[in-house]
Amino acid sequence: MVDETKTAKLTIDGDSYDLPILSPTAGPDVLDIRKLYGQAGVFTYDPGFTSTAACDSTITFIDGGKGELLHRGYPIDQLASQSHFLEVCYLLLYDALPTAAELEDFETTITRHTMIHEQMHNFFRGFRRDAHPMATMVGVVGAMSAFYHDSTDIADPRQREIASHRLIAKMPTIAAMAYKYSIGQPFVYPRNDLDYAANFLHMCFSVPAEEYQVDPILARAMDRIFTLHADHEQNASTSTVRLASSSGANPFACIAAGIACLWGPAHGGANQACLEMLNEIGTVDRIPEFIARAKDKNDPFRLMGFGHRVYKNFDPRATVMKQSADEVLELLGVENNPILAVAKELEAAALADPYFAEKKLFPNVDFYSGIILEAMGFPTSMFTPIFALARTVGWISQWKEQISDPALKIGRPRQLYLGETARDYVNIEDR
Ligand code: SDX
Repeated sequence: MVDETKTAKLTIDGDSYDLPILSPTAGPDVLDIRKLYGQAGVFTYDPGFTSTAACDSTITFIDGGKGELLHRGYPIDQLASQSHFLEVCYLLLYDALPTAAELEDFETTITRHTMIHEQMHNFFRGFRRDAHPMATMVGVVGAMSAFYHDSTDIADPRQREIASHRLIAKMPTIAAMAYKYSIGQPFVYPRNDLDYAANFLHMCFSVPAEEYQVDPILARAMDRIFTLHADHEQNASTSTVRLASSSGANPFACIAAGIACLWGPAHGGANQACLEMLNEIGTVDRIPEFIARAKDKNDPFRLMGFGHRVYKNFDPRATVMKQSADEVLELLGVENNPILAVAKELEAAALADPYFAEKKLFPNVDFYSGIILEAMGFPTSMFTPIFALARTVGWISQWKEQISDPALKIGRPRQLYLGETARDYVNIEDR
């Protein structure tokens, strides 16, 4: 990684500093500024981390210009069409595609961890029924550290692995329970005879009064949505998990922090905001009005599900998601869904508009996902919890990679201070 022959020269007030240039296996070179403050007494300034590599990683690579996304080197479109979510989880966790025996063992382990401690059911009842399921998930996942003490010692590799398995296995159960609680229906226990995606659908849509048969095509679509959301380099919620874990916090607390960050409409909350926007637009003839608003600097409105910090081309996940939307809606006999028509027309109008072309704004992963999830029967409030469920494997894989680094230091950014310099206190009678 360190190529001693490549350095950058920085000159400040006549003094010259050599900064090593680190060479990646893919992507841009990286200027190593770790010693800059000690040598030159200056900070660098990059509030949105648009030009900052906060870590090194071998898990996921994104080429924003090409619209490329690789998980351990495998392209997302191949994984979405040829693999399945638990195999992708194994790949992200262990940096290798599993053999048949390894995969069977892993799937059995995950299946056997899907139930949560019975006492945790009480946590849900402390929330109002109309609580957003993301609020419930932040609370219940954080509370896992109060129950699973035998997997909170981050210094023990075996405990780290058990915590990883528990989180991947229990997130669908917790998300489904949050949904059931919000609609006043009884919790449905996981079933070991169902695969990961089918189990989640069953826990969400089964009721005691009648058997619920999971449609295998919907289960396949659900599984693909999980795969498309599994990991995405150093996005905001993953960076939150990494920063939390750098202090030595337990994995459940770190994942709860990631869930909280993902909730924002600029990040994982965009799938809910996008469908709400499409419903607000309502009909194709209102699209020009919303395109104009998105371009209006005085209007805070943005096209939700459009644009991306890294992708300045199509988000490859959006391409796969769009194909899946067509398949699922046709299967459900709602291919004439007016909202899908609005989404497709909105995408075409935006892509044909110079404003979006100049700013390289394309549909992202959140643009079509909500249409599929709504067609499956989920309320918009469940869209981001499903994103969080799927992203847990990415968060925990990145957490594991960071925790295993013996050179790990606590994350502690500095600042550009623009406040008052030192001044004396003034007594109230003198103010
Ligand atoms: C996710 O980082 C990840 O990897 C995230 C994610 C993952 O898998 O973890 O991919 C998941 O979060 C996807 C993004 C979901 N968010 C949305 O869909 C919300 C709508 N999009 C935006 O708010 C915005 O595009 C961001 C937040 C996603 C990215 O914003 P940036 O990179 O900080 O860019 P910016 O806000 O500086 O915008 C650049 C320009 C601005 O115009 P100028 O000030 O240069 O004139 O583009 C404009 C923005 O006004 N712009 C938009 C727009 N997004 C950016 N204008 C209209 N509609 C939009 N959606």
